Amino acid sequence: MSTKKTIKRIGILTGGGDCPGLNAVIRAVTKTAITRYNLEVFGIADGFLGLIENRMRPLKFSDVSNILDQGGTILGTSNKADPARFCVDYAPDGNPIFEDVTDRVVDNIARAQLDVLVCIGGDGTMSAASRVAEHGVPIIGVPKTIDNDLMHTDVTFGFNTAVTIATEAMDRIRTTASSHSRVMLVEMMGRNAGWITLHAGAASGADLILIPEIEFDIDMVCRRCIERSQHGKAYTLVAVSEGAKPKGGQVVVDRVVQESPDPIRLGGVSEVLSYEIAKRTRLECRATILGHVQRGGTPTTYDRTLATLFGYHAVGLMIHDQINHMVVWQNGALGSVPIDQVADKQKLIPPDDALVAACRATGVCFGDEG
Ligand code: F6P
Repeated sequence: MSTKKTIKRIGILTGGGDCPGLNAVIRAVTKTAITRYNLEVFGIADGFLGLIENRMRPLKFSDVSNILDQGGTILGTSNKADPARFCVDYAPDGNPIFEDVTDRVVDNIARAQLDVLVCIGGDGTMSAASRVAEHGVPIIGVPKTIDNDLMHTDVTFGFNTAVTIATEAMDRIRTTASSHSRVMLVEMMGRNAGWITLHAGAASGADLILIPEIEFDIDMVCRRCIERSQHGKAYTLVAVSEGAKPKGGQVVVDRVVQESPDPIRLGGVSEVLSYEIAKRTRLECRATILGHVQRGGTPTTYDRTLATLFGYHAVGLMIHDQINHMVVWQNGALGSVPIDQVADKQKLIPPDDALVAACRATGVCFGDEG
């Protein structure tokens, strides 16, 4: 498939976990493609799974009307369908049997006469898309994830909504923390990146922020809770990432999804910490795990506009032959980077992050010496 050939028909899929703003991107891509460039658009069901199983349908203008503010994805998604390592069966011991089914994906794309494939997803989807691109399929990537951990883009859509939801939860938890004089821990998603926790913690005035990038010392955490209770602050509000871990310790794993390209699901560190702090300090502690609430429902205005910009720019990239690139937002402007520069990488909070410095300066403890 030549990247120079005239584009007539495009496919679009949403991969990985659902995320607020997916429908806004689908809408922007489809409307721009149809009205501005007279292209045909095919929606692929359930991410790469739909390409493996050849499930797709034409998307008309009317199919994407009134979806801008809808959460989830009208196309469906899957975070267990990497074509290069696809679970085709289970062995008698229950372990999955994997096969590389990329050729099947390439055949189905050719049969449907898709000239370009728009892949909206996070690092797992970009990694899978990059490998499909190596087989000659022209790809455009659009960066999605509440985790904000994709390389080369300052922000991904979905992140702002997740931070907004988590901040509101922190504000509400503060009421109970203060009324009952408790240590209240609020656990946030993000896998091994602490972006949601850092931003929601900063925005809600958390007393402690525990993120994967800064390993915490449990003595330090307890000392801060005690100090607060001794200096007239009867309660402590802790924002904790699901990927936070003690110095030299391990993350807390909730489950292993063997079929998934990234099988580890984190969760539960706030409960472990709550128990430990209560035992050591005799303060009353409670943990709340926000979980999938952070991914659900309508996107914020910021995410709706970012998703619209991303979808519009994705079509512009393919028209201007910037194939195998992912849309990015850098220094306040739209841009793009080769998709293979994003694959199999993760953007973590750097040690010199300005918000970490601002939080420290305003008295937030990260559970370390800093
Ligand atoms: O990557 C998005 C994310 O919500 C992570 O923050 C979280 O660790 C993971 O997905 C949860 O995955 P699942 O929906 O499979 O439980």
